[in-house]
Amino acid sequence: MIILKNDVDLLGMKESAKIASSALRLAKNLIRDGVTAKEIDDAIREFILSKGARPSFLGYKVEGKTYNYSTCISINDEVVHGLPLENKVLKGPMLVKVDVGVEFEGYHSDTAWTFALGDVSERRILLMKATKEALYKGIGFAKPGRKVSDITYAIYETVRRYGFEPARGVTGHGIGLDLHEDPLIFNHPEDIDYDYGIKVGMALAIEPMIAEKRGYVKTGKDGWTILTKDGSWSAHYEHTVFVSKDGPIILTEDIDV
Ligand code: MF3
Ligand code: CO
Ligand code: CO
Repeated sequence: MIILKNDVDLLGMKESAKIASSALRLAKNLIRDGVTAKEIDDAIREFILSKGARPSFLGYKVEGKTYNYSTCISINDEVVHGLPLENKVLKGPMLVKVDVGVEFEGYHSDTAWTFALGDVSERRILLMKATKEALYKGIGFAKPGRKVSDITYAIYETVRRYGFEPARGVTGHGIGLDLHEDPLIFNHPEDIDYDYGIKVGMALAIEPMIAEKRGYVKTGKDGWTILTKDGSWSAHYEHTVFVSKDGPIILTEDIDV
């Protein structure tokens, strides 16, 4: 069921999203050789709590398991849902993907970014660029009269032009009163199993997760981390977006600017 949001909801989501973007900017400033993923997670949790908000991921239940962290920090071939553990020590060259969700006054926002640490190859810098471009191309279709699958095709076609492929089975989603609401926003056209018309009042977390080679994935031993099967590295960018009558309003911020 899709929950449409009104203008009051939009105000709450904007506040939530502002905190989430600031949290990512905090992560950006902490990332360097020798820092552990746990230190970043701790700092982000403290920051979110200091704003009178709550980390959406903390205590979140997926298939009966409870997630005990405030962020997901996924490195290199880890596509998404990487755990921010103490033994995950940053050391370039690395692609560090930080994903954070915030609940403020009952409103959730969700945003992710990819950071290159150290001397990352040109091809992988291009992977970041293509993934970010795919995010913004996808967002461009988040307007009334379009379908959710238009977002999927925009993402897919953008990254295919560079020779990259969306990770399979991992998706964007509706968001707002819950972290994950309908509809799913598939990143790969072959994953599409239903489609929706986009309507004013939809709030969408659009999040291309793109592999430098093939998009096939597996789940790691920890039961959470999704990794590429072939070991290829991946990039991930995510914005929370509101569909207004005039088109998409990006609620989370581009933290590269
Ligand atoms: N990475 C997911 C998203 O962006 C949310 C993580 S849920 C968790 O939608 F429980 F794994 F943290
Ligand atoms: Co996210
Ligand atoms: Co999300």
